[in-house]
Amino acid sequence: MKYLAPSILSADFWNLGKDIEATLKGGADIIHFDVMDGAFVPNITVGPYVLERLKEKIPHVTFDAHLMINNPDAYIKDFVEAGASMVSVHIENVFHIHRTVELIKTLGAKAGVAINPGTSLDSIDEIVHYVDYILLMSVNPGFGGQSFIERSVVRAKSLKQHILDKNLNCLIEIDGGIKLDNLHLVKDYIDIFVIGSGIFRAKDIEETTRRIKAFLSDV
Ligand code: DX5
Ligand code: ZN
Repeated sequence: MKYLAPSILSADFWNLGKDIEATLKGGADIIHFDVMDGAFVPNITVGPYVLERLKEKIPHVTFDAHLMINNPDAYIKDFVEAGASMVSVHIENVFHIHRTVELIKTLGAKAGVAINPGTSLDSIDEIVHYVDYILLMSVNPGFGGQSFIERSVVRAKSLKQHILDKNLNCLIEIDGGIKLDNLHLVKDYIDIFVIGSGIFRAKDIEETTRRIKAFLSDV
């Protein structure tokens, strides 16, 4: 099964609820919630309070919190309590990644580890045995609307092969620069597709979501 996870970073925050509803009507499976601290990445976004308000309105929806923040251990509980049932942290800034992954799981959420485009896949060789998903960044984290980094295709392919070779129960999520017109490059290797500007900056959010879902469901 292929999952579509619109990233609200590119939504119209004046109409945030309506924009999210449009993606859900179009068939979105997960809502991707980007958290930035202005330290690990050069941008600041939203925190648990916003997530909690959204979850209150749409309790049945799965929220995926992508923590692009330093010292994520201090905030993971807040995000799970606010409604995130998937939480990812970055391999680049966590000292004890196994402990952090176990913390996420103990709190009852799915645990993900995110990896930047410039970080060797070797660095997740060990933790891949413990996580529910790897979040493969296909842009440098920090902003919506950036261009897809082409080498992400070979990285996705080799990560998928690694997971198959080791017979691991780990999904691959891709995030950054994904649009309807380049989905085909990574479709075979990826389970969860994060799309921000490719959905929220489209003229018709619901219809664009529906078209992307149809493409992903097509085998
Ligand atoms: C980037 C974020 C992404 C971003 C993707 O740091 O992690 O989730 O919203 O946006 P697009 O799809 O526009 O690249
Ligand atoms: Zn993200």
